[in-house]
Amino acid sequence: MPEIAFYKDKFVDINDTVVPIQDRAHQFGDGIYEVIRAYNGKPFYLEAHLERLGNSAEAIQIALPYTLDEIADICHEAIARSTILEAEIYIQISRGTYSRQHHFPEATPPVFTLTVKEARFISSEKRTEGFRVLTTEDDRWKNCYIKSLNLLPNVLAKQKAKEHGYDEAVYHENGTVKEGSTSNIFAVKNGLLYTYPPLKGILHGITRKIVITLAGELDIQTKEEPFSLDFLYEADEVFVTSTSLEIMTVKQVDDRLLPTERPITAQLQAHFRQLK
Ligand code: PDD
Repeated sequence: MPEIAFYKDKFVDINDTVVPIQDRAHQFGDGIYEVIRAYNGKPFYLEAHLERLGNSAEAIQIALPYTLDEIADICHEAIARSTILEAEIYIQISRGTYSRQHHFPEATPPVFTLTVKEARFISSEKRTEGFRVLTTEDDRWKNCYIKSLNLLPNVLAKQKAKEHGYDEAVYHENGTVKEGSTSNIFAVKNGLLYTYPPLKGILHGITRKIVITLAGELDIQTKEEPFSLDFLYEADEVFVTSTSLEIMTVKQVDDRLLPTERPITAQLQAHFRQLK
């Protein structure tokens, strides 16, 4: 299946594309991105992702080079050209290309990049078995609601988790659980669902929002409030959510094994599957 790339205003060969050295995405991570899943060739919650892209752009004062409708059209065309049905779309917008200087260059157009590739496959065995997550102090900036290209702390946290035999790193701030390095996190206790509130310190995940809506439909109450690491260790169920992980069971937090009965997670997973 061909991987597809769109650079500036046209579709290009993914192997030929050379991004200029002076692109500010290289130099400063000065840009934003989105990751969108397509199921059976249809982008999932595209509008919500593009709305968040627009919000991220506005937050760092990048003027989108296309309207959201035009970006949606590019996504659809890219999927069609790729012929990949189970796809992952990556969109990146950098502030532009200019001789290196910290402040914004004047009158430099932003650079729009899009790729489509096969989505990562997660086996149903892995989904049932669940993730091990390793908690780590949140050493990121205070504006993680912006989906910015500056992912070095996330990369380092994920690598640390991997080196210790874990699947995901989970950030806490002085013992308050926030989110994963590439996911949001939920805990279930006594039939209630808990997740960190949508403040500036976490990414407002699209999957997180879908889960809260599904929970409401299932009469499961969600408390968007901070909770502690101890609360996480003692939870009845824990799961992480993201575009690529969907709703992923967590079986272990640090060295604590969680209960193997996960009725609420299973219910939410079943309802999520029906949305695809
Ligand atoms: N990551 N929190 C962080 C820090 C993330 O990077 C992500 C997504 C999420 C979940 O957001 P959503 O449900 O909208 O995917 C939460 C994407 C998939 C990535 O960087 O690849």
